[in-house]
Amino acid sequence: MKNLIFVMLGLFVFIGCKQIPKDEKNTSQNDDKIYSEEELYKPNFHFTPKKGWMNDPNGMFYLNEYYHLYFQYYPDGNVWGPMHWGHAISTDMITWREQPIAIFPDEKGYIFSGSAVVDVNNSSGFGSQANPPIIAIFTYHDPEIEKKEGIDVESQAIAYSLDEGRTFTKYANNPVIKNPEIRDFRDPKVTWDAFHHQWVLVLAAQDKAFFYGSKNLKDWKLLSDFGTNIGAHGGVWECPDFFPMLVDGTEEVKWVLIQSLNPGGFNDGSGTQYFIGDFDGKTFKLDPSFQNDLKEEQAFWIDFGKDNYAGVTWSNIPDTDGRKLFMGWMSNWEYAQAVPTEKWRGSMTVARELKLFKTNNQYRIFSLPVKEISNYISKTINKELLTIDKEIILTTNELVNFESLDIQFKIKDLKEDLYTFSFQNSKGENLKFGINNKEKYFFIDRSKSGDLSFSEKFAPKISKAPFKTKHSDFQVRLLLDKTSIELFFNNGETVMTEIFFMQKPIESFSVKSENSKFKIENLTINELNIN
Ligand code: FRU
Repeated sequence: MKNLIFVMLGLFVFIGCKQIPKDEKNTSQNDDKIYSEEELYKPNFHFTPKKGWMNDPNGMFYLNEYYHLYFQYYPDGNVWGPMHWGHAISTDMITWREQPIAIFPDEKGYIFSGSAVVDVNNSSGFGSQANPPIIAIFTYHDPEIEKKEGIDVESQAIAYSLDEGRTFTKYANNPVIKNPEIRDFRDPKVTWDAFHHQWVLVLAAQDKAFFYGSKNLKDWKLLSDFGTNIGAHGGVWECPDFFPMLVDGTEEVKWVLIQSLNPGGFNDGSGTQYFIGDFDGKTFKLDPSFQNDLKEEQAFWIDFGKDNYAGVTWSNIPDTDGRKLFMGWMSNWEYAQAVPTEKWRGSMTVARELKLFKTNNQYRIFSLPVKEISNYISKTINKELLTIDKEIILTTNELVNFESLDIQFKIKDLKEDLYTFSFQNSKGENLKFGINNKEKYFFIDRSKSGDLSFSEKFAPKISKAPFKTKHSDFQVRLLLDKTSIELFFNNGETVMTEIFFMQKPIESFSVKSENSKFKIENLTINELNIN
């Protein structure tokens, strides 16, 4: 009888598939887990500080086996406050070790967002050839001038480290870029421009990006600006990034400008757009085809979900690696300060590899989780083919632990129909995502995803990411942590990242269509063991 029930359950769970061997069952059912308040929403594999408030990633660089991540940090409260640079290190961008605070605010102001480079040839003179300095470039935000409603609130400053980014000394002649009478003037990101033998700095100046050049990281010359009447302008531009990239599979180089803005994101609030073009050492010019595409699209987005903001890339990645590695802040200024965590607030997205593809004369950025995540796979369930008549439960918490998953599959034979995937628990909470193949968009619906009470802006409507043509199949990859979903459609061509706050663990994963039969191919559910 017991066996019969198990067989029936197997048939129900995976119609038309091989039975899952008993030993694949997860014996430690997460259903029974009781979390302390502090742990309830604590991600398993997304960086979050041990205590205090965190927003943007800052100063990311790689050196001697370590990826460094600094972050906008207020250690003494769980809302935004006087900004420090917190610090964490990792050997693989997946598990992070928090370090002592790296840069503290002082009489010149708070330490706002910025970047860091390894000054390999000691162009700044702060170190030596044998011990190259790390130079952090950040914005001083002066709260006193702000109170007096002065305009020159923000200027750019540098600090150097001679101990691989653990401690920093501020430069005596700061600021290195004075305020040119622009109220919002911040977030410097520096890149070595090997084509023109100069350091290039991009910063956000209200509704534009300003480019500066330097030979020594101390003396900066304004080169040009970019952005008037181009792209999305629903809010202030913040946290740009600017770097050359090889078009995948070719020797062609294009320059990419990543540009966050708040508000004005595709699904409201904070969002990050990108531009592709050429740089002659002074001016960034959009590629004509990209400019043309912008007429139709208005903006191209690194991520369409509501929770990926102020993302930038790591510097000093060795040529032998050659990847463009990116990470964003997994929240949105619309509600970031109200999300229901107490001791700490704010987490980062998973680190992602960016790729630049050119197809049909269209340049587009794709992103996928860094490959290192696969080192943490502790268990895999594979299903080759599922033929689905309207609805099926794909898996349950008897078979997988929904706390840390990397799921991939192909969804096939789609009609003009609505396809909805759902993670749900017995409390009636669910997190939905899917494909509307009638109206041509991907979506995330967190309107019943648990605690929504903290902000009306959290889930007023579903988030959408449009696609151009109706397809009969899509490739889907998703990362699921306790409080976030990161969706990568078609190899990362369209990405959606959102957070949610379920009060009970997820118990099952299902999919349904409204009217038609469809198929799921090569479903791989990887359980990740990361802590
Ligand atoms: C973006 C931002 C930056 C600023 C920082 C302050 O989230 O507003 O423009 O430097 O946060 O914490």
